[in-house]
Formats: sequence, C-alpha cells, structure tokens
Amino acid sequence: MRSKPETARTRASRLSRRSRPPIPTLGDVERRGRAALPESVRGYVDGGAAEERTLRENVAAFGRWALVPKVLEGHDEFDLSTTILGTEVAAPFFLSPTAYQRKVHPAGERGTARAAARAGILAVFSTLSSDRLEEIAAAVPPGPRWFQLYAQPEIDATLELVGRAQRAGFSAIVLTADTPLLGSRDRQGRSGFALAASVPIGNGPNVVSPPRPFTGKGPRYRFTTPGRPTWAMLERIRESTRLPLVVKGILSPGDALRAVELGARGILVSNHGGRQLDRAPAALDALPGVVDAVAGRAEVYMDGGARRGSDLLIALALGARAVGLGRPPLWALAAAGEAGVERFLELLSAELATSLALLGRRSVQGLDRSALAPAPTASRGP
Ligand code: LAC
Repeated sequence: MRSKPETARTRASRLSRRSRPPIPTLGDVERRGRAALPESVRGYVDGGAAEERTLRENVAAFGRWALVPKVLEGHDEFDLSTTILGTEVAAPFFLSPTAYQRKVHPAGERGTARAAARAGILAVFSTLSSDRLEEIAAAVPPGPRWFQLYAQPEIDATLELVGRAQRAGFSAIVLTADTPLLGSRDRQGRSGFALAASVPIGNGPNVVSPPRPFTGKGPRYRFTTPGRPTWAMLERIRESTRLPLVVKGILSPGDALRAVELGARGILVSNHGGRQLDRAPAALDALPGVVDAVAGRAEVYMDGGARRGSDLLIALALGARAVGLGRPPLWALAAAGEAGVERFLELLSAELATSLALLGRRSVQGLDRSALAPAPTASRGP
C-alpha cells in the first residue's frame, strides 16, 4: 500500500519539529531541565542545604550589581577567548563538577565531555561521576579537562585517584575543601533521593562519597571513618603530582592566602552551590575579597548562581578569571542529553558576546570594576 502523500502542512510541521532547537532560549534551560527529571533526581539536583538561604543568595547577589555600558565605542569584533591556567579556552566560563550525571540523562559525563570539547570549554568532572574518569577522557580528544577530588578515607586511595586522573590526561586537580561531610539536604531528603546508598560511582566500588550528615542524639558527634580534607593533605596532593592544584570551596581571604602559600595555582570561590553550610556567603559576595588578597599570585574563579551572560560579566569585572556553572548544564543535559549541553554552551556564549558588545567592551580580558555600579534596589532572586 502506498503511504499517503505528505501535505504541505504536515511537511512544514515535520520540518519545524526537526529544526526546532531542543532548548529555545537560555531562559528555558531551567524549566526544561526540571520538567525532564523525575522528582527524586530533581530534588537532588535543585536542592540546597537546610533553608536554602545560601542557594538563593548565590543568585540574588548578582542582582546587587548593575552593568554600566560605554556607548559609541564602535567595536566590530568581540573576543570571548581566554586562558585558564595557561590553556586556551573559547570562553571564560566552565562546567563545574556535578556528581552522578547518568542519573540525570543516559548520556552521562561522556555526553557532557563531548559537548564541552566541541565547544572548546573547560569541564570539570567529579570523583563521584557515573562514568569512569578513564572513559570520560577516552570519549573526547585531549583538551581542557579537570578532575575534582574528594578526599578518600585513606591518603593512598586519594593519591591513587590523583594518579589515575593524571595518567588519563586531566590537566588539573580540583580539591574540594568544603565537604568534610555533606550538608543537611532537606529538599533532597524529602524527594527520596538516597545518595551513596543507591547510586553507583563510576570510578570504582572502593571510591566513596563524603560522609552523610550527622544523625542521632548529641552532645558529641564524631566521624566513624578517617579522611577529612586538611591543609597537610593539600600539601601531600600537591607534592604527588605535576598537575596544578585548584582549591574549591574557599570563601575567605585568609583561606585563599593559605592555599596559595601552599602552592595552589587556582582558587575556586564557591559554597558548593548552596549545598553545604546554609548561610555561608554568596559566592559572588566573597569573590572581591579573595581577588584582592590573592593579588594575582593564583587565578581566582567563582561558581554559584550565575545564569546569564550578564552574570558572567559581573563576576569577571569583580576579578574572576572564569566562572563555573553547575546546575544549568545539568538541566540542559536532563532536557536533551549531549545536544542539550551543546545548545546551552552555544546560548550562553552568544549571550555573553551580546552583553559584552552592549557593555561597549570588545574583550573579556581587562574587564574591571569600572564596568559596575551598585544596584541598591535590586530584587532579583526567587
Ligand atoms: C553534592 C556532592 C556529592 O553536592 O558534591 O551532592
């Protein structure tokens, strides 16, 4: 039997379905991603600690700044490229490490890695990735790729992970310093996402997540396993590898200086996406003090709350070398897998270029605080 000839109308509808991008605009990433996730995973991805004040403040802090454009500059070309620890990248933003990406979409970390590699964007992969770090590295050509490190109960196991990352071609180690144990994750608990118990870790059965929050009656609480991250451990890690060390989760000038004195090449100002200590400062609020204290002796990055091109400009103007994004690329992965992450990177990059042009600057390098004014009446944020 011959199939019915296609009418002009059904053909137009088929073509428009095919050409319609998986995520229409940058503002759709969050909604599309959340809608694609089962409730338990959504609670894990979206949730923060306790009352989620820090989670909200991360976003709200961007609303405390206005960008002041320079007009009539007449630039024709705009350059987003920069270097991060000496490696050229296409834009001054990167994918912050997030755990268990196959729970979000079957494409997993390999899908994220491929999308980032095609875009020339730095991606950081978690110790708690659902794909093995060697599989992630093998899925893409050599490029900017960092490994996030969680201290393991035994130092030898921690150093073994560092060695594996180095052998697989990762180009920096990002030691997470803010997680001696996981924060109180109310939303995650309510959603029924059981971390560690039910989620396989791609890096092997011996690799463990940080301990869960304390439970039971006080007055004394203690860890039942060894392996808290310490300054001495930071030194051991630094001595064990030729890879540069970045310390993630710093919120004070004093801690930043101490890390730099012990040889850290990068400081990632972060409160772990508001998932650890509720009421920790917004990452953006903590950034300028760290930038001033470090005074060029290491690169300073930030993550937490950035969503739009204009947010990136604000953080860059406050001195961040690059800005990390955690939840947004995960939402994009949830919405449309590898193509979703690719689309997200394209939308964010184009919006950053548009905002840069409207700000009257031609390059992301050399942005400084003269581009900013306080926005005292700002009301952004949920
Ligand atoms: C989290 C840890 C596992 O924030 O990084 O869920």
